[in-house]
Amino acid sequence: MRILGIESSCDETAAAVVEDGYVLRSNVVHAQLAAHAPFGGVVPEVASREHVTRLTGVVDDAVRPVGGLSGIDAIAVTQGPGLLGALLVGLQFAKGLAYGRNLPFLGVHHLEAHLAAARIGRAEQLGPHVALVVSGGHTHLYAVAANGTAQALGATRDDAAGEAFDKVAKVMHLGYPGGPAIERAAAGGDPAAFVLPRAFYRQGLEFSFSGLKTAAQDVLRTLGPTPDAARVRDFCASFQEAVADVLVHKAVRAAKGANLPGIVLAGGVAANGRLRALLAERAAEAGLWHLAPPKALCTDNAAMVAAAGLTRLRRGERSDFAASARARWPMHLDAAPKPVAQAAVTP
Ligand code: KG4
Ligand code: ZN
Repeated sequence: MRILGIESSCDETAAAVVEDGYVLRSNVVHAQLAAHAPFGGVVPEVASREHVTRLTGVVDDAVRPVGGLSGIDAIAVTQGPGLLGALLVGLQFAKGLAYGRNLPFLGVHHLEAHLAAARIGRAEQLGPHVALVVSGGHTHLYAVAANGTAQALGATRDDAAGEAFDKVAKVMHLGYPGGPAIERAAAGGDPAAFVLPRAFYRQGLEFSFSGLKTAAQDVLRTLGPTPDAARVRDFCASFQEAVADVLVHKAVRAAKGANLPGIVLAGGVAANGRLRALLAERAAEAGLWHLAPPKALCTDNAAMVAAAGLTRLRRGERSDFAASARARWPMHLDAAPKPVAQAAVTP
C-alpha cells in the first residue's frame, strides 16, 4: 500500500509518498519563502496562487520514484486547519486525483499529520507516549495511543511557541520564519545571560508565551537601536532557552503524570537544536524514551500527511468526497478527528 500525501495548508506546497511500514519513498517540498518575502509575512492570496501553479509539478516529482500515479493506492491530504484558500487547492487536487483514479481518499488534520511524522521510517509501532506538538500555530501536549488516536493534555493559553519565535525575530528584524533565525543568532550565546519568564512552570500542563514575548521586547528596548553583537547572541540564546526549558519541563511532567514511558516531538519548532538536546537530556534523566523526527519532517511537509493517512487506512477509515476544507478545526479530547465513515479499505 502506497499513499500519496499532499500538504497546502500554509506556505509550503508539498507532496510525498509513504509505503506500508511507513517507508518514505519521496518527500518534495516547495517552500514559498521568496513569494512572501517582499510582504514580510505569509499573504493568503499569494499562497493560494503559488499552490495552484506549483502543485502539479510537486506531485509529479513525488510520484516519479514509484512509477507515477499508477504506483499509488490511496491519497491523503491536509483538510485543515490552515488558510482556507490554500487548503482548498490541495484538497480539490487530491479529490480530483482520487476520483479520477478511483482511489481511497483521506482528509487529515494538520496536527494529526505532525504527530504522525514520528512514525515515518519505523516498521514497528510506536508505543503509547506523550506528544509535544510545537508549531507556528500550536503548542499542545497529547497522550497518544498505539493506534495513533490522541487525547489533549494541555495547550497554550495564548501565543504558540513558534509564534513567539516569529514575533521576537520580527522585532529584531531577523526575518521570517523567526525560529531558525533566532536559533542561528543564538549560536555561541550565553543562555543564562538574561532572566526571562517561564509561565506556569511549577503547575499544570498549560503554556503561556505572551508574557515572555512582552518581557523579551522590554529587554530588547534596554539594548538600544544598535545593540552589541555579543548581547544579541546572549539575548537570542536566553530566549531560546526560556522556550525550550518550559516546553521540555511540561512534556516530562505530562509523561510522568499520565504514566507514559516516552515523549515524541513534533511540529516546526521541533527542528530547534536546543529543544532537541534539552529533551534528550531531561528524558534520559527521567527514565523516559524520546523521539524527535528528522528536522525535514518536523516543519510542514506531506510525508507526515501520508503517514497519518496510512494510519487511518489501517484503521479501516476513508473520507467522503463531500469533505470541505476547515480553516479552523480544533483537535481536542477524543481526537483524531473522525472522517465520514465509508466502506472499509483493506490496507
Ligand atoms: O509546523 P510548521 O512548519 O508550520 C505550522 O504548522 O505552523 O511550523 C512553523 C513554525 C514557525 O513559527 C517557525 O519559526 C518555527 O516553526 N520553527 C522553528 C525552527 N524551525 C521552524 N522554531 C525554532 N527553531 C527552529 N529551528
Ligand atoms: Zn505545521
